[in-house]
Order: sequence, then structure tokens, then C-alpha cells
Amino acid sequence: MSKKIQAIRGMNDLLPEQSPVWQYLEGTVKEVLASFGYDEIRMPIVEQTALFKRSIGEVTDIVEKEMYTFEDRNGDSLTLRPEGTASCVRACEEHGLLYNQTQRLWYTGPMFRHERPQKGRYRQFHQIGVETFGIASADIDAEVILLTARLWAMLGLTDAVTLQLNTLGSNDARARYRDALVEYLTQHLDQLDEDSQRRLHSNPLRVLDSKDANTQAILANAPQLHDYLDDDSREHFARLRSILDAAGVSYEINQRLVRGLDYYCKTVFEWVTDKLGAQGTVCAGGRYDGLVEQLGGKPTPAVGFAMGVERLVLLLETLERIPSAVLHTVDVYLCAVGDGTDQAALLLANQLRDEALGLRVLTHCGGGSFKSQLKKADKSGARFALILGDSELSAGTIVIKDLRVDGEQVTLAQADVAAWLNEQLYS
Ligand code: HAM
Repeated sequence: MSKKIQAIRGMNDLLPEQSPVWQYLEGTVKEVLASFGYDEIRMPIVEQTALFKRSIGEVTDIVEKEMYTFEDRNGDSLTLRPEGTASCVRACEEHGLLYNQTQRLWYTGPMFRHERPQKGRYRQFHQIGVETFGIASADIDAEVILLTARLWAMLGLTDAVTLQLNTLGSNDARARYRDALVEYLTQHLDQLDEDSQRRLHSNPLRVLDSKDANTQAILANAPQLHDYLDDDSREHFARLRSILDAAGVSYEINQRLVRGLDYYCKTVFEWVTDKLGAQGTVCAGGRYDGLVEQLGGKPTPAVGFAMGVERLVLLLETLERIPSAVLHTVDVYLCAVGDGTDQAALLLANQLRDEALGLRVLTHCGGGSFKSQLKKADKSGARFALILGDSELSAGTIVIKDLRVDGEQVTLAQADVAAWLNEQLYS
């Protein structure tokens, strides 16, 4: 026998038993997005490598060591997208969507990063992202955060996540802060961990993210970003905070929150949970007013975020916050026992779908004994088994068995079944 080919490490199949939870999550997010008037955009999964280098930044973890980059048959360097913001900006520019107008957009799909796989961290993972363009004021920062807060409420996750908030200031302010930080950290160079020593000159703000205890201790006395902020960023942040306060959204200010992508300015935020171990950030984003221009467009203010679908699914499962109805994908299992009942069952199933809108009917196909069919009915998760045997076929009736209450059984005329099911299931 030849060796079986397996999936690539860190790239997961989504199995049928898992998909109802994904659909529930995606459906709820779409409902919230629609209620805020956001429009969907779909971008290709592959882009020119230069797009990500120029936007995410040459000296970030993503670009330095995590991208799936390859040469296609024409010799062009292409990359599987590691995130959606850069593609979204490119698409909007390419199609003139940013000219004299604002945009509120969302997208969803797989992203690819060659990270070390572990719980909550994969090489192919899925994001639902939001990007808004053309609005410079803090009300739109607040809107995207309120949108996420509303989503947590709808998913029953409000108590499981906390909002970490920071402002990075303008590019100038950040450059001044960077100089001060480098000067301070250089004095303590030999006490820093290896990664931080390397980052000190390539991307010093990322040193603030270090998990190393010694580096953390050094950072305790480091210059503070907020002492270097420009007035505009300070006012922007204060406005954002006052809207969040008025809306009752609580947050923690974390001056060390700098994010791993280079395009941010002013507001950055992360929704984190302590229920998933090390990979606790379920949603993250911020403002990136310079990116459109950096990619060749006119200066355009922008703010957005992306959430990790796998992490949110894990959180819903870990905390058992999935409504039980979500896990039941079938209402009725229709058994066909005896000659000619198979055809009649398929027709009756369609009749029921016509008469009881939304009813989910699984018709048994492939014959077999009554007992084995009933077993399958039970396993399907359906509430009722409908049994069509020879005698029911000739009488125009059907036997209905409640699979969740022992011994409950009725016989009805086929014409009355839809109304009866409607009454039982939906009233
Ligand atoms: P990010 O922080 O790189 O930001 O990713 C956003 C979210 O995607 C993370 O908080 C996490 O939930 C999920 N995620 C990231 N990497 C992985 C992984 N390897 N496995 C599983 N989940 C993962 C961005 O991507 C920005 N584009 C967000 C943004 C949009 N900023 C402005 N607009």
C-alpha cells in the first residue's frame, strides 16, 4: 500500500462536526456587521510579495520569517497573504474606492503565516477583518471597537475578554520616543534577551513586547511612550476614551501595546482572554493613517481590526457558550421501510420543506432495517423520526416518533404533518 498523504502541519481541515460552530460565529459576526452598515469585499489569497513588505514592514516577524513566498512560473515573487489589511488597501486603491468617499468594509478568509503551530496558533488560520477609510476623527475608532463589544455581547463572551488600549502617537512622536528608548536600552544592552538585542536597532518598539523577565525588569524604568505624544494624538485618544466611557466599554491602557505590524499610528487595541493559554489575543487592530499613501495612494485616514476565527471558536467551546440549537442541524429524520417507500419518502420530504419553511429534513437513503434506520435517526440529532412503512404508504399517513421523549408516538395524515411539526418545533 502506498503511504497516505497528510495535511500540511498547522493547516487544519474543518470537519463536519465542527462546522456548525463556525457557521454560528460567522453568522453572528455578519449580523453585527450588517447592523452597522458595513459592506463585504473579497480579495485574492495571493498577492505580489512587495505589497506585504512595503506595508507590514521589512523588519517585522511576519515579513522576516513567516511569509509563504514563492516564485510562480513567470518568475514573479508571490506570497500567500499573511493578513488582509494590505490587500484591502491595494484593492480599494486599484478600483478607485477611496477617491472622495468613505468606506466601511469587511472581509473573511484564510491567512498564512509560517509560525510554530500550537493551540490557537496555526499556519493557515482564518480572520474576519474590518477596514474603514476616509475618517480621521476618533468617533470611527470608537465605532469599530463598539462593533466588537456588541459582538462579544451577542456571543455571550463579554465576561471572557478584556480590551487593551494604547496610542502610538504620530510618526514624528514615535520617532522621538524610539530614539529615547534606544538610548536607554543601549545602556542595558547586556541584560536584554537575544531577540530584544537584535530588535534594538531594527525595530526597537517591539522590545516592549518582550516576555523575557530580565528585559521586562529593564523596561520597568524605560521612558514612557505617552510622555512623547503629540497634541493631536493626545486629543484623539482622549476623545476615543470618552466615547468608550459613555458607551460603558471598559478598557485597560497598556503603554507596552505596540502591535507586530509597522503600519499603525495613534490608536491600537487588542481584545484578550486568559482562557486560552498563550495565544489569548482574539481580535486586534488600530489606526493606520499612513498606509494608503505608503502604497501609492493619496493620504487617507484608516482604522480597522481583524479577529482570529479559530481562537474565538476555541473560546466558545472552552467556555461552553454555544447555544444547543446550533449543534442540531436536523429537525426531522425520515425513515423509509419497505418496497417503494424510498421514492415516496423523497417526495414527502420535499412536500414538508415546501409547507414548513426552514424545516430541516434528512431523508434516509439506502434502505436497511427499521431498527438500523431508527438508530441513524437518533444519531442525526433530530428531534423527530418520521416513519413511512408499507401500511402508512397505502393509507397516506406517517408515524411520528419523538426521539427525545421515550414512548411518544403519533400517527398523522401526511397532509397534516407540516402543521403539526411547525407547532411542535417553533411554538
Ligand atoms: P494581527 O494581530 O496580526 O493583525 O492578527 C489579528 C488576529 O488574527 C490575532 O489577534 C489573532 O486572533 C489572529 N491570528 C494571527 N495570527 C494567527 C495564527 N498564526 N493562528 C491563529 N490566529 C492568528 C492583523 O492581521 C491586522 N491586519 C489587523 C488589522 C486590520 N489592523 C487594522 N486592520
